[in-house]
Amino acid sequence: MATITENATFDKPKVRQTKMLIGGEWCDAVSGKTFATMNPATEEKIADVAEGDAEDIALAVKAARNAFESGPWRSMDARDRGRLLNRLADLVEENFDELAALETLDNGKPINDSRAADLPLVIDCLRYYAGWADKIHGDTIPIRGNYFCYTKREPVGVAGQIIPWNFPMLMVAWKWGPALAAGCTIVMKPAEQTPLTCLRMGELAMEAGFPEGVINIVPGYGPTAGAALVKHPDVDKIAFTGEHKTAQIIMADAAQTLKRLTFELGGKSPNVVFADADIDAAVAGAEFGLFFNQGQCCCAGSRLFVEESVHEEFVEKVIARAKGRKLGDPFDTGTSQGPQVDQAQFDKILSYIEKGNAEGASCVTGGSRFGDKGYFVEPTIFDNVTDEMSIAQEEIFGPVLSILPFNGVEEVIDRANRSFYGLAAAVWTRDVAKAHRIADSVRAGTVWINCYDVFDAGAPFGGFKMSGIGRELGEAALANYTEAKTVTMNLE
Ligand code: NAI
Ligand code: MG
Repeated sequence: MATITENATFDKPKVRQTKMLIGGEWCDAVSGKTFATMNPATEEKIADVAEGDAEDIALAVKAARNAFESGPWRSMDARDRGRLLNRLADLVEENFDELAALETLDNGKPINDSRAADLPLVIDCLRYYAGWADKIHGDTIPIRGNYFCYTKREPVGVAGQIIPWNFPMLMVAWKWGPALAAGCTIVMKPAEQTPLTCLRMGELAMEAGFPEGVINIVPGYGPTAGAALVKHPDVDKIAFTGEHKTAQIIMADAAQTLKRLTFELGGKSPNVVFADADIDAAVAGAEFGLFFNQGQCCCAGSRLFVEESVHEEFVEKVIARAKGRKLGDPFDTGTSQGPQVDQAQFDKILSYIEKGNAEGASCVTGGSRFGDKGYFVEPTIFDNVTDEMSIAQEEIFGPVLSILPFNGVEEVIDRANRSFYGLAAAVWTRDVAKAHRIADSVRAGTVWINCYDVFDAGAPFGGFKMSGIGRELGEAALANYTEAKTVTMNLE
């Protein structure tokens, strides 16, 4: 299934669905408007997609509310909700080649990554939450007096879900899995850059047999469709993944209706390499931790702290690996790095490269656009970066690695925590005590020891500080989609 063929080129898939999904029907926007989704490798249009706005969101929320209050979803056995999630996972498996290719077409990520990372993680996540559907339960509590007291966990209601473009289909799975297992209904707004796999997942959900209105999808832009979803009084909860500045707008917009909010935001994650580490493994981890997915990862190891005694050797080795990355057609299995998702991201990354140069860091490889078509950026490394430079503080979200030399455990803990983000961190060392000292002291939601980007549907993921609120994945994510209800009965 997920086997990788050497030096093959996969075919581009047909785009099957470009409308919005409301109450089980595929429809055009009320306004009739559409927007273009682009192929970032060629800068050509792939398709025009229905552009939702407030009116479409209102229809979708109504459908989700009806499905929640009076549809078969509510009365369905929890175990049958789990069966539907497993059926959706089966359909993703059956359409594996098409979905992987569609993700590569719309996002630009190499087909090897879509096939080896995104798709398997999507399937795993759906099955993991399928297993939770009939295991969400409360407690009986021995309160004072002659009472019988128990808690239930009820679905929070209509969940508005707003997702980004870096892992489009995986974000669908992370959001749908726990919401559906808990018995919520959904209005999802995919990112404007990458709506296609979300829409195709909507088709598969209909084929799986989810009742109409349980899953609604409204493509469109953030300040229009996204903001309308956040402000709608009949939406109980917003789950958002994206930039912290957008989360600040969402929090303000949600204040009027006091919505439950969970946020998975950005990072400037420290990746710490001690001199006693397995250096080659750490070099590979530094490359993968930053350059994977064109650097477009919220948990990218973008501040690489390297202990001074191995700094020179390390930098040489990591430059060699960056130079070995093959940029090109994402449909070619020999390609390890595709284009950035769009012009805005491409421009943002190039402006950070300019800032790095202007602020006095040494650009030791890369630093420019690659080719003259598509949003490709050379794998870029800045050495001798200091803590206050913008490239050490701000999220670049591209293939730009900042190397910061350091001396000793105490210094690196202090410097690693000098960030308003706190999403992830990693440490490379053969000293177990040192590894745990870092794991204990770094203010981050995830710490990897001698590895990077190890994700599993069972392991919670999310941020400290301005990297987020709440946790996705694992049992933890179910809390985002349930309300506790306490029932007390007089036994006198
Ligand atoms: P963004 O946060 O603006 O977009 C993410 C999602 O939010 C999209 O679906 C967008 O349409 C929606 N959105 C935007 N404005 C909204 C609003 N006012 N109300 C409701 N929804 C809204 O991120 P963008 O502009 O695509 O990327 C900017 C930067 O954000 C990136 O360069 C990167 O640094 C960071 N980012 C972080 C991600 C993560 O995984 N943590 C994912 C994507 C971007
Ligand atoms: Mg934005």
